[in-house]
Amino acid sequence: MYQTILTELENGVLLITINRPDKLNALNKTVLSELEQVVQLVYDDKKIKAAILTGHGAKAFVAGADISEFRDVSDEKGGELAAKGQQIFFNIENCPKPIVAAVNGFALGGGCELAMACHFRLASENAKFGQPEVNLGLIPGYGGTQRLTMLVGKGKAMELMMTGNMIDADEAKELGLVNYVTTPENLLPKTKEILNVIITKPPSAIEAVISAVNSFYQYDKNGFKEEIKLFGKVFATDNKKEGTAAFVEKRKPVFKGS
Ligand code: COA
Repeated sequence: MYQTILTELENGVLLITINRPDKLNALNKTVLSELEQVVQLVYDDKKIKAAILTGHGAKAFVAGADISEFRDVSDEKGGELAAKGQQIFFNIENCPKPIVAAVNGFALGGGCELAMACHFRLASENAKFGQPEVNLGLIPGYGGTQRLTMLVGKGKAMELMMTGNMIDADEAKELGLVNYVTTPENLLPKTKEILNVIITKPPSAIEAVISAVNSFYQYDKNGFKEEIKLFGKVFATDNKKEGTAAFVEKRKPVFKGS
């Protein structure tokens, strides 16, 4: 049914596995479009009570947006790219049924943003989180500047986005980015254990919890709009061209003005 996503429904919980392990499950156009479809299925299918998002393989949850595709997108289309990603991630955040991230390895860039769009997160001990867009001459564009700030506070969010440094699962837990850290083997069982409690509760009440908590952060969407504008702006710079070229060519970037 999907090219880049595996699904498995068990006791009302849909396990959604992003399946591009040779590219560390990077979000290319196909993954994003299939993610949009599968999230719609979670909204629509009465058999689905909750969902888990994870990545295939032992190494990565999602290592970001597909950087090689960024090179084919024209300068003026950066904003559109961010707006589309934001819309899909808002659909996850506003889903009336719980969607939980089981972070099983690298959650970088768009991968960290995807995990943050979920209602909450669990991580395996080998998980690594980060917003390394700055290394590409970019900034997060799928809501990361806003949701990371909401989750870990302004100072740490600024540091993580300006350094591009990764943090491990324990630090992510300390910062409130993840709720639990467990062994790789226990990650899905532990996530299912929590969801199996949630799905015994009345769906009308669960939906209301999600909506009310989200409302706390929705008094102002200007930050998300500003992120689209600024992502569009940096997307058109020579530094973005150099950063993405260097990644694809497996060399160190040489940025202007540094
Ligand atoms: N986009 C496209 N391809 C990606 C990718 C991404 N975000 N992340 C990893 N890949 C690809 C690599 O190009 C490589 O492909 P290849 O085997 O065809 O050369 C493959 O996935 C494996 O990655 P590799 O870099 O060889 O693994 P590693 O263990 O040496 O490093 C990372 C792992 C996560 C540190 C490194 O892949 C990385 O920095 N990825 C990009 C992270 C990023 O900047 N994300 C934000 C994007 S906006």
